[in-house]
Amino acid sequence: MSRIETLLSKMTLREKLGQLNMVASGYAVTGPLLGGDSPDAIRSGDIGNLLNMVGVDHVNEVQRIAVEESRLGIPLLLGFDVIHGHKTAFPVPLAEAAMFDRAAWARTARIAAVEAWNDGLALTFAPMIDVSRDLRWGRIVESAGEDSWLNAEMAIAKVKGFQGSDLSAIGSIAATAKHFCAYGAPVAGREYASVDVSDRALHEIYLPPFEAAVKAGVAAIMPAFNSLAGMPMTAHEPLLKGWLRDKLGFDGVIISDYNAVAELMNHGVAGSLAEAAALSLRAGVDIDMVSNAYRKHLPEALSAGLITMAEIDASVRRVLALKERLGLFDQPYRRGTAPLAAMAGNIDHHEVARDAARKSCVLLTNYNDALPLTRTERIALIGPLADAQADMRGPWGGASVAEDSITLRTSLGKVATVVAQAEGVKINSDDMSGIATAVEAARVADTVVLCLGETAPMSGEAASRAHPELPGKQRELAEAILALGKKVVVVLFAGRPLTLPWLFHNASAVLMAWWPGEQAGPAIGDLLMGQESPSGRLPVSWPDAVGQAPLYYEQYPTGRPFNPNDHYTSKYIDAPNAPAFPFGHGLTYGAFALSGLTVSKTVFGPDDTIEVSATVTNTGKRTAQETVFLFTHDLVASLSRPLLELRGFAKISLDPGQSGTVTIALAARDLAFPGRDLQPVLEAGDFEIKLGSSARRSQLLNTRVTLKL
Ligand code: BGC
Repeated sequence: MSRIETLLSKMTLREKLGQLNMVASGYAVTGPLLGGDSPDAIRSGDIGNLLNMVGVDHVNEVQRIAVEESRLGIPLLLGFDVIHGHKTAFPVPLAEAAMFDRAAWARTARIAAVEAWNDGLALTFAPMIDVSRDLRWGRIVESAGEDSWLNAEMAIAKVKGFQGSDLSAIGSIAATAKHFCAYGAPVAGREYASVDVSDRALHEIYLPPFEAAVKAGVAAIMPAFNSLAGMPMTAHEPLLKGWLRDKLGFDGVIISDYNAVAELMNHGVAGSLAEAAALSLRAGVDIDMVSNAYRKHLPEALSAGLITMAEIDASVRRVLALKERLGLFDQPYRRGTAPLAAMAGNIDHHEVARDAARKSCVLLTNYNDALPLTRTERIALIGPLADAQADMRGPWGGASVAEDSITLRTSLGKVATVVAQAEGVKINSDDMSGIATAVEAARVADTVVLCLGETAPMSGEAASRAHPELPGKQRELAEAILALGKKVVVVLFAGRPLTLPWLFHNASAVLMAWWPGEQAGPAIGDLLMGQESPSGRLPVSWPDAVGQAPLYYEQYPTGRPFNPNDHYTSKYIDAPNAPAFPFGHGLTYGAFALSGLTVSKTVFGPDDTIEVSATVTNTGKRTAQETVFLFTHDLVASLSRPLLELRGFAKISLDPGQSGTVTIALAARDLAFPGRDLQPVLEAGDFEIKLGSSARRSQLLNTRVTLKL
């Protein structure tokens, strides 16, 4: 008999339910604290899994109790939200998406895994792969943005980075794809609100990143808090059991979100905790995170016939199997014993953080080559985010500490001539008394570097905003500085796009820094001073007005496309249709020209892959990197198809005057879509193949190919 079956045959019901129970330790909290890491409960086998404990000594001590003092000696599974770094804070996920760099996505996940492993952890609640198209929703910051294909690509890279090829190897931790699914589409962008998307949107937009994660071998999946068309995801049998388990064959662990099992009562689908527990176990949720509904109420549900012992056993098997894959039975204490440097291959984590921060900043505007700055320019560094150490990490700072973050205030003076500094205003205050001092500081300078935006907690979980603009009196500060008529370079920090048309028109340049992580100051300094040319690209369409939300490039055609000469066409009468900046937008120092779009075959079959190429020329004066996007458009199909669909990207770095070729592979199967019966279908016909530097349709190179079946 296998180890798992042997154990199972010895386990009491209480011990089984312990394995399905995850409690929160008091070390870091993300919601109501409902559990405790009481040693007695570990000893009695009532706790099989723990979250939010950091520090290898604590971890090893609770693990010792589990292994040495519980009857069966089953090791604990310890999880933590290692979202964008553990000790080393990397840019937030939305910023990382802007890198459009699979190797870099995997690298930061690997380092985070190594650091978490070294801290005794075995599981992270990441990657978050909720397609996010609404800037009001705070958790847009945790995703790869608006595009389903891009979220899937990032999911694959992150799973690979966290898990490596062997979960039991040094430095590997189990990943959790979350939040399953469509959590990014709450009604009106309001956190935790219900979701009601069509089955088509589900199969076309929200499920594919999860399918990609499952195919990449993700160890765990977390259902979302929301209900979907009336059915809470924590009890969504058709999607959890039917789609994930039966259709995709996912045999990993499904872990509820924080207290979500008990919240089935608030959703109004369970009248008691026993019913709630039964509903979610039957749907396939193996581990109950903190609500204690499984541990306390499954016995009652079992006696009432709401669930069977076979269903409990199936979940226990999956939990034990994950512990086995992680190598915990054989080496429960191994974690935390290897020297960190050797595990990470002697990579300097801070250098990787700086590189990632540089690559993820997006240069939104740069009038008259305001950037880069010169060494002799006299700079006033102004604004509430010039020295906001804790905020630089953004939400989900993991085990990083604010003191490790380097702000522009600390670092810019080392590479530029900073002659004055002032905070001006505080973000969370209406006090304008500091503006006059800031204006005086600006007067003595040639150029102002103005650091504006949100505080970190203004994006992330439970941080929806109906007015995604500059909070507090930052606009007043900016207007007073802009009125001086000097060069004003804005560095914007936020976890989402902010609707600031007045700023984009009036500032000399705007660099979107998101939350760049611990190396914020040095990385932004590298870009401002031209040590490196900006290369980040927007993973979201940046709205001009909040009324455009949800905004995304992947629009379906309308019968009445916008025509300025025809009133009865699709438009707003008080805002443009177009975003302020399209998906993929991002300037650099200098310019690129794209020409000569070719395809390796114009007629191809269902098993073919074609190569799409074009020539990129650096027409500017600096070495820089261009990102080229490949979009497709199915011209006539059995269903209306989006005007653009992202199917690839390529990056190329070129010196001034240099040309190079980018080639992106496109498989015929990438042109499939969910047919009328929602099953993938590949339809013969003509497709447009488009290449360009953003999703702005008028600027894409275009050719046609024909698929013959
Ligand atoms: C969040 C999850 C997170 C969990 C554990 C919840 O509130 O929605 O994303 O993994 O807390 O911290």
